[in-house]
Amino acid sequence: MEWLHRICPVTNMKVCRQAETLLKWNAVTAIVHLLIGLIAAVLLVLTRWQAVHLLPVTWFYRILTAHGLNMLIFFIIFFEMAVLYYAGPILLNCRQPAPKAGWLGYALMLLGATMTNAFVFAGKADVLFTSYTPLRAHPAYYFGIILFAVGALIQVALFFATVVVAKREKTVSGTIPLVSFGALTAAIIAVITLIHGAMVYIPTFLWSMDLMDMDHQAYRMVWWALGHCSQQINVAAHVAIWYLLAAFTVGGVVLNEKVSRLAFFLYILFISMASAHHLLVDPGLSPAWKVWNTSYAMYLAVLASMVHGFTVPGGIEMGQRLRGFNQGRFQWLTRAPWGDPGFSALWLSLVIFGFGGGITGVVIGTEQINIIAHNTLRIPGHFHMTVVGGTALAFMGVTYYLLPLIFRRRVAFYKLAQIQPYLFGVGITLMGLSMTYAGTFGVPRRHWDISFTQSAFSVKLPTIVDLFMAGTALGGVMAFLGGIAFVAIAVVSVFFTRPLSNEDLLSGGPGLPPGISKMPKQSWSEEEAAEAHKTGTPGTVTLVVIFFICFILYYFANWKVLAALWKVG
Ligand code: HEM
Repeated sequence: MEWLHRICPVTNMKVCRQAETLLKWNAVTAIVHLLIGLIAAVLLVLTRWQAVHLLPVTWFYRILTAHGLNMLIFFIIFFEMAVLYYAGPILLNCRQPAPKAGWLGYALMLLGATMTNAFVFAGKADVLFTSYTPLRAHPAYYFGIILFAVGALIQVALFFATVVVAKREKTVSGTIPLVSFGALTAAIIAVITLIHGAMVYIPTFLWSMDLMDMDHQAYRMVWWALGHCSQQINVAAHVAIWYLLAAFTVGGVVLNEKVSRLAFFLYILFISMASAHHLLVDPGLSPAWKVWNTSYAMYLAVLASMVHGFTVPGGIEMGQRLRGFNQGRFQWLTRAPWGDPGFSALWLSLVIFGFGGGITGVVIGTEQINIIAHNTLRIPGHFHMTVVGGTALAFMGVTYYLLPLIFRRRVAFYKLAQIQPYLFGVGITLMGLSMTYAGTFGVPRRHWDISFTQSAFSVKLPTIVDLFMAGTALGGVMAFLGGIAFVAIAVVSVFFTRPLSNEDLLSGGPGLPPGISKMPKQSWSEEEAAEAHKTGTPGTVTLVVIFFICFILYYFANWKVLAALWKVG
């Protein structure tokens, strides 16, 4: 079948025009919501920093609601739709099925997001993004989220249709590429997530109009089946991007296809169970239910991330060694393209997600330890290192490649783009760690005034907390500046630079990441591969050992703190 496409001069693959346009609109809309979320973010850190304490109480909760929604739901999910168009028709080299349905899905998402935001900013939905009942928002708030979810479901369905088209029209032979397989995992989890979304938001919408009763414990349980599964969409999507960026930036190889695919598959099987770790202090659920869900089963999903945490850096190491950076244990790393924003974002995302988000997540997801972490700043400390340092940073990194490949534009302010991932990554790490330490000393999350002025009773927090809150603010402002730099680079590149011809793309020059003008070699002969396998990946093995030492120390320290607080016998 003939369809409108162009041939990409860098990848030599067909790029379906319809998919390309849908991808662009979803990505640009994602960045608009990122901007709203970023403005909200800086207002929040400057309020939580008691020395500034910027917003009045009502606006703190209104802006917190807006921040959670615009970042975690609207920015991330619009961007994931763009990822699905890339991993779908573009990587599978096929046409976009039913593009009109794609536009319908996009329009519903945009309408839903705008409606929800309008009601939040009008002060009709100060319920935070979890909207735990019995807090009640205007019915239009829930309806907006339902519209958004239906739109997302339509676009996800189109991704499945694309895989069928690619197979039927034989544009891919054998199994689909690993990056598309990762996206397929994300899409399957998205369906599970959206079904739970319907199960929780449709009744809540009816309840908000007094048309039915609500069981508040049941709400929390079903809401987290939505809330946590959606995090796994993020993880599957950003891991797929890690593999893609590794290939683009250093010719990273896939160490073992079957192992990587199995790890993606584990996410689908076990991630819903991990939702239970959000309910560990809820009184209505039995300890047996909590322990079962948050131990054996949850660790199989953690195992999946640990597998990727080895295979991605291992693939980078192997790719670099094949390219000749073979000396010692770490030449592959010291000679990596640190000035390529695609590579630095990939590496920082990997390290912040693994060391920061991963270790803290497993520890606070342990039933006993959760009792000293629940509802403290440790929780946002943890998830800013997973979904911001991990997912958002990976999305930023891939944007530096999508700008020339899909938007056909040079990356504007390239020097700024080269430092942007460091500014954002270091900022979010400083903020995440400071929040984690502040939370360890008892600072609550979602709290407007930790000096407890005018409250009926007060809690005296140790003085060291002031230092950690200042670190939270400093890191937050750095990350905010890094985020704004990213938005400025993306907007100026897309709207204020001239389109590139095929020759421009291949001739290099300012504003083009090195992987575009000179894509690293992607395939090697059997002899070359066999030679590289003799050395293996000793550098990655060393990094993994360091990871486990940090993990064990942090786990032990937490049990020690628990034992000191809670003497048994
Ligand atoms: C410049 C970057 C960012 C900064 C400075 C920042 C800062 C903050 C702060 C200070 C809070 C309030 C914590 C509390 O009081 O409990 C917060 C909450 C939150 N942030 Fe961010 N954030 C940033 C980026 C992001 C991104 C990219 C996402 C998601 C992709 C995100 C998701 C959330 C969520 C879900 C909450 C919890 C909202 C709630 O408790 O209802 N943040 N953030």
